[in-house]
Amino acid sequence: MTADRYAVAGNPVEHSRSPLIHSLFAQATGQSVDYGRLLCPLDAFKPTLLAFAAGGAKGCNVTVPFKFEAFEMASRRSPRAELAQAANTLRFDAQNGADGGWLADNTDGVGLVRDITEHAGVPLEGQRVLLLGAGGASAGVLGPLIEARPAQIVMANRTVEKAQAIVDRHAAWAAQHGVKLSARSLAEPGEAFDVFINGTAASLSGSGIPVGPQVLRPGTLALDMMYGPAAQTFLQWARDHGAIARDGLGMLVEQAAEAFYIWRGVRPDTKPVLAHMRQLVDQPKTDGAH
Ligand code: ATR
Repeated sequence: MTADRYAVAGNPVEHSRSPLIHSLFAQATGQSVDYGRLLCPLDAFKPTLLAFAAGGAKGCNVTVPFKFEAFEMASRRSPRAELAQAANTLRFDAQNGADGGWLADNTDGVGLVRDITEHAGVPLEGQRVLLLGAGGASAGVLGPLIEARPAQIVMANRTVEKAQAIVDRHAAWAAQHGVKLSARSLAEPGEAFDVFINGTAASLSGSGIPVGPQVLRPGTLALDMMYGPAAQTFLQWARDHGAIARDGLGMLVEQAAEAFYIWRGVRPDTKPVLAHMRQLVDQPKTDGAH
């Protein structure tokens, strides 16, 4: 019997850790899965994906810059993908079958929430949360963050109008969950948050952390959605100011686990996989911190 095919679709994809994560999940659960990389030309995401599906593949993960296009291509969308207006997971259900065509979902937010609450052991309920950025990464996690019922979420962004538009889209969802949700500028984000999540590309551009350390208090969980070298400036800054620093590796593993569940109906144990990935990512970098 041949294995069911999946892939991570994006541009670039050569450094993606998803194939390894999914092969570890498949091994541990005894699922027959063949998960590869699908490099899509920037102007040909749709035909590349259609050809992949026509070849018998069952689904894919989608990464930058195609999460919005992936959302548009599906005939059915989960509520959390609707809120994000973006998809990182597609399941190629048959167009004519009972299921009614491709399903788009977004597992980034639930991945982030599970990493914070289960791996980092930090509760979100009743807490004050600062979410930095209003690009695809931050917009993609806001719905599930609200669902975790913190007391307050501030979305702060360089371009406040972008944050305001996303906040407006989530207003009813926030009200339903009793969450005070607002958009603010980087100049006045507020102070002493319990959880601070960086979803901006600022660390990549080398321009430093775009808010002052007053957003932290001793013991704040400060999490950057990136991992590896790209996250190091943020992590060091957080530690220097008394916060608990965390990168995006746990989020990566958890969003993958949720996608695996959507495709296979089986939930892999994420703890050993995260430990494996942690070793792999941290090993080459011995910066003297530990
Ligand atoms: P992604 O889809 O990965 O989130 P994006 O849509 O390009 O990428 O969004 C990048 C985010 O990082 C945006 O919130 C952006 O702010 P603007 O909306 O004002 O553009 C933010 N960002 C990028 N570089 C930044 C910098 N040097 N300082 C502050 N914010 C920055």
